[in-house]
Amino acid sequence: VLIIIATTVVAYLLGSIPTAVWYGQGFFGVDVRQHGSGNAGATNTFRVLGKRAGTIVMLVDVMKGYTAATLSSILWFSDVITDGEILTFEIVFGIVAVLGHLYPIFAGFRGGKGVATLLGMVLAIHPEMALICIGIFLLVVIASQYVSLGSILAALAFPVLLLLQIFGEKESPLLIVFGFIMFLLVVLTHKKNIRRLLHGQESRTILIQLKKK
Ligand code: G3P
Repeated sequence: VLIIIATTVVAYLLGSIPTAVWYGQGFFGVDVRQHGSGNAGATNTFRVLGKRAGTIVMLVDVMKGYTAATLSSILWFSDVITDGEILTFEIVFGIVAVLGHLYPIFAGFRGGKGVATLLGMVLAIHPEMALICIGIFLLVVIASQYVSLGSILAALAFPVLLLLQIFGEKESPLLIVFGFIMFLLVVLTHKKNIRRLLHGQESRTILIQLKKK
């Protein structure tokens, strides 16, 4: 039990790494939470600090979720958990990392919206479906220019496509339930975006880009 608790703490600390905040402060002397949408995520870093910064923040945030979910395999290799428990712990550690990203201990508990970290964990758990969701995200973003809408619809597509068993195999009910819960979480973290979308006020701005100090 102790090792599971310790691993959960590691997953939280991993998720807590405030990539957008540290990258912005470290390389630009800018807290991205004071610019653009005010979100400490890859999208806003992209918007405020440019393509390179946004891409790096996105990759690190995806890695956080991926690594956290993969901690489950380490426990399995060490015979701490059984075959049947791998998925459960992938989900638990992944969610904990997403919560770390939302409420980072290293950045005053003001983090991002969890999309990249969530994608990372889904890449570890169900890579085929993750790729389809990335495709849906890109299509929506290209068509609408709204990143938030892409995030929300991709998060909805995940559990719905699992439910429809598009790969012809029975999908884990646990994963489907998890998917719907994560969709609700994404809706909650995007509350302000949804309000803006409904009022036609959501930002289509992909780049503001502040000057490097
Ligand atoms: O992943 C976050 C994205 O969906 C929205 O970001 O900065 O436009 O609120 P932002």
